[in-house]
Amino acid sequence: MKKYLVDDTEYYVRMSGSGPILLMAHGFPFDAQLYDPVLERLSKRFTCVVPNLRGFGSTKLGANGRNQHGVPRVKMGRYADDLAILVSEIQCQCKLRGEKIVLCGLSMGGYISLAFVRRRPDWLAGLVFCDSNATPDSPEKARSRMELADSITQLEIQNLADRTIQSVLAPCTIKNKPSVVSAMKEMIMRQSPEAIAAGSRGMAVRSDSTETLAQIEAPTLVLGGQYDALSTPESLDLIAQQIPNATRATIPDAGHVPPMENPDAFVDALLNWYDEKVVG
Ligand code: MLT
Repeated sequence: MKKYLVDDTEYYVRMSGSGPILLMAHGFPFDAQLYDPVLERLSKRFTCVVPNLRGFGSTKLGANGRNQHGVPRVKMGRYADDLAILVSEIQCQCKLRGEKIVLCGLSMGGYISLAFVRRRPDWLAGLVFCDSNATPDSPEKARSRMELADSITQLEIQNLADRTIQSVLAPCTIKNKPSVVSAMKEMIMRQSPEAIAAGSRGMAVRSDSTETLAQIEAPTLVLGGQYDALSTPESLDLIAQQIPNATRATIPDAGHVPPMENPDAFVDALLNWYDEKVVG
């Protein structure tokens, strides 16, 4: 992985391929490995930039990953600001300065992508909004995230991994793709309690992004797994209806994490949309 100084921490980033930048933000509590199964094909068309977000994987939380009392908390806007800094650095290095990027955000990465849209709308050639939503948490959900943040320990991460696998993967993935289940478990188990607490608190206080949807000018692919129980196909249909230039795609045989569960269908949907709506 490459290392980039971003604000007060070093971001670890998987980089591959050449061409326009495709920046891919992972979900919670995952890291860049989530996109590994789609990188080989996407790298033939894009410079794929896949960071471990602040705190996750090998990227340290940094002082700015805490609130004023020193408690781990990363707001969606902080992750989005980090991504903007990272993109600027990579653009300079790859001589792509000023060129628009395609931003792909899955679940928490989707929340971050809407914060990015509010900050840098003119940087986007396209947006891929995956298995996510635009509304804030219900009070109950926010409370349970705060409880998780307050109680998470190294020992508890195994329970979190088991619960997450059951809630995010499609039943057919759990039944037929043991390697996806074990890759997901390993990925969650290597995250630190601090990163999990910081992301949880950040999501719990995220703002309502519903009005941002109508402001997205870039062509947008709203994509989700057929069996995603967290961001259902119906909820993604409603989101697509609120975005001016949206295309909708449903990935068969996948739940909340299509890049791992059905990578070929994910890549096909992304490339078809890109060729038709962004290039074409
Ligand atoms: C994710 O995959 O990022 C999470 O499901 C987001 C969430 O907990 O809202």
